[in-house]
Amino acid sequence: MVATHNPGKLAEMRELLAPHGVEAISAGDLGLGEPEETGDSFRANAAIKAIAAAKAADLPAFADDSGLVVDALDGAPGIYSARWAGDNKDFTAAMTRIERLLQERGAAAPDRRSAHFVSALCVAWPDGHIEEVEARADGTLVWPPRGTAGFGYDPMFLPDGHTRTFGEMTSVEKHGLPPLGLGLSHRARAFVKLAEICLD
Ligand code: IMP
Repeated sequence: MVATHNPGKLAEMRELLAPHGVEAISAGDLGLGEPEETGDSFRANAAIKAIAAAKAADLPAFADDSGLVVDALDGAPGIYSARWAGDNKDFTAAMTRIERLLQERGAAAPDRRSAHFVSALCVAWPDGHIEEVEARADGTLVWPPRGTAGFGYDPMFLPDGHTRTFGEMTSVEKHGLPPLGLGLSHRARAFVKLAEICLD
């Protein structure tokens, strides 16, 4: 089971789990509530979500806690990435807020606009044991946002070594998994690590 209520993430996690023969249903589909993310790190919040879902459903549960870390903003929005979009999940507003803060800090030049996505993954078994991995994808923030694919902050994020933002890539390109590569997105890279530990 995938302990998420975020449809964009659920779709990606299904794609990433399918090659391992793992079928996923979401915490939302099972009618489970969303635990409060009270941790102070991506890793801690992933564990809170996975452990709560595994206990509630008596099934192994995956959770991802992820977000965008902007260097010139001292790491914001970080673990608050979802919250910056507000209750109506307005990522245009969240990206506009990042851009305004970058401009206020004089971070207009590309070399001041570095950022990375982080994905912390946790698998929790009903018996209470857990596995945890974390990975990142490095890039630069562009303005205006480009592309309509993906979700969240994808249209603003240009991964290093690429000319198109995550918002301009298909999900297959965004994951960058074999045979295309060894993992491009933070979530795909974390899944590669997790697969080594416990999926195959
Ligand atoms: P949470 O992990 O559910 O607390 O939320 C993480 C938030 O980070 C998401 O709602 C997105 O805003 C953002 N985020 C995480 N991964 C991605 C991604 O792959 N693309 C774009 N935004 C992302």
